[in-house]
Amino acid sequence: MDNDSGGGLGYGVSKIRPKRLFEKIEALSPDRNVMFNVMIPTSAIGGLTLLESSILVALTVLLAPSEFFEFGTYHGATSLLLAANSADHARITTVDLPRSPGARAAPAPAADALHLQNDSENDDYLRRSVAATGAIHLERAEPRYQRKVDRLYCDSRALDPVALGLARRFDFIFIDGGHDFETVAIDTANALRMAKDDSVIIWHDYASNLHRDVTRFVDGFSRHHAVIHVENTMLAFTVRGRFKGLM
Ligand SMILES: C[S@@+](CC[C@H](N)C(=O)[O-])C[C@H]1O[C@@H](n2cnc3c(N)ncnc32)[C@H](O)[C@@H]1O
Repeated sequence: MDNDSGGGLGYGVSKIRPKRLFEKIEALSPDRNVMFNVMIPTSAIGGLTLLESSILVALTVLLAPSEFFEFGTYHGATSLLLAANSADHARITTVDLPRSPGARAAPAPAADALHLQNDSENDDYLRRSVAATGAIHLERAEPRYQRKVDRLYCDSRALDPVALGLARRFDFIFIDGGHDFETVAIDTANALRMAKDDSVIIWHDYASNLHRDVTRFVDGFSRHHAVIHVENTMLAFTVRGRFKGLM
């Protein structure tokens, strides 16, 4: 790993190629094929690429988390991915905004160029889209995957991890809710409260051309923490405790 010193990760953002993680999986399982279970990527904006999905699964294979938390359920594709590629006993908790009564009756908004070019318009579009459609991929999922997922409905900026029994509970936290600086900062502060000593915290939209606040926040965070950006993806993550030794 770039910036490594003496088995520890140096502060700052280090870049790694995806294959650095895949090599670790090969070393862990030299005699078998490691498969994963993934939906064909959705055409809706706001989802993960296939490569990004494979990175989340690679981290799941390497770190064997049993408690996952996701900020930003959206259509539920990543909750489903984590449910389908984790141990049977694993739990996925995912939070999105509460849905107002009747929102589902509204048609899903069509994405236009503005939604793809302006970060706050994009976030607003994602919120309206999920209000109209719900977490469709989770709702259609097989019961064995649905059973692993707990959904919370609240504004993550008002999340109280202690009151909700979420403190120090999670070993895998994925931050992909609101992309403005304030929301990313609050979600990250909560993620740190919710993380076990041995854990990974992952941000989506790092190095995005659209959600530049995520990059600005993570770059600032990296002044006091080692962060790894996976090239050719918008994923950046920080590992804590003994998980550092696995990187
Ligand atoms: C990019 S989408 C999440 C994509 C999802 N993680 C996936 O991989 O498929 C962002 C989601 O965050 C939700 N969101 C935005 N601001 C939020 C907030 N303050 N609290 C909770 N959820 C929020 C939006 O409603 C939207 O569903």
